[in-house]
Amino acid sequence: MRSCLVRPITYWVVKAEDPKELVRRGYDLLSERYEQEFAADGKYQSWIAELCERLPAQAAVLDIGCGCGIPVARDLSDAGHRLTGIDISEVQIRRARVLVPGAAFMHGDVTTVEFAPASFDAVVAMYTLIHIPLEQQRLLLERIAAWLRPGGWFLGTMGHLAWTGTDSDWLGSGVAMWWSHADAATNRDWITRSGLIVQAEEFVPEGDSGHVLFWATSPDDGTESPASPHQTG
Ligand SMILES: C[S@@+](CC[C@H](N)C(=O)[O-])C[C@H]1O[C@@H](n2cnc3c(N)ncnc32)[C@H](O)[C@@H]1O
Repeated sequence: MRSCLVRPITYWVVKAEDPKELVRRGYDLLSERYEQEFAADGKYQSWIAELCERLPAQAAVLDIGCGCGIPVARDLSDAGHRLTGIDISEVQIRRARVLVPGAAFMHGDVTTVEFAPASFDAVVAMYTLIHIPLEQQRLLLERIAAWLRPGGWFLGTMGHLAWTGTDSDWLGSGVAMWWSHADAATNRDWITRSGLIVQAEEFVPEGDSGHVLFWATSPDDGTESPASPHQTG
C-alpha cells in the first residue's frame, strides 16, 4: 500500500523539475493572460514590417513558439505569407487555430520536430529560445539554419545577459515559469557557428534589463525560393 502511494509522488516531483514541462504547463495556464499583457506591445509591428520588406510575396515563414498567434502569426498571415506556427503549449495552439485561421499550426516541441531542408524563407522566434535549455538552443539554431532556404532570414529575440531561473509567481498569476539564456556575445557566436550570417543586432530594453533581437541570413548561393514548406518525419 505504501509503495503505491510513493510512486505517483516521485513521478510528480520528476515531472515538476523538467523545465520544458514547466514552460508547457505555464503557457497552457497563461495563454490568455500573456496575450493581454504583451500582444499589443508596439515593438512587434516595426519588426514584422521590416521582415515583410525583406521577404518575397507569399513567403513560407515558420514561427517558432508562436503562442496564440497574436500578433506575429496574424500579421504575417494577413500580409499574405504562408505561415506555419509551432508551439509546445496545446492551449496556445488551440487558440491560435481560432484566432489566425489563415495559418497552419502544429502542437510540438521545436527541438524535436523535423522540416525539410531549405523549406522556409524565414524563421521567426520571438521570446521562445529563452525558454529552451541552453545546449538545445545551440542545436536548434543549427536546425533553423538547415530549414532556411539560401538567403532566408532568421529573426529572433535572445538573451542579453546570461541567466537561468524560475519565477514561481509569474505576472502575479501564481503560475511558475522558467527561462534560460546565454549572453549576447554567446548567442551571436552560436548563430554564426550554425552557418548563418548575423546582419544586425539590436538591444531591446524591457524594464531594468532587456533582450537582443538578431537578424541573420542563410548564405545565398542563388537558389530559388521554395514553393511550399514540407514537414518531414
Ligand atoms: C514568451 S512566449 C512568446 C509567444 C510569441 N512568440 C510572442 O512573441 O508573442 C514563448 C512561447 O514559446 C513556446 N515554447 C517554449 N518552448 C518551446 C518549445 N520547446 N517548442 C515549441 N514552443 C515552445 C511557449 O509555449 C510560448 O507560447
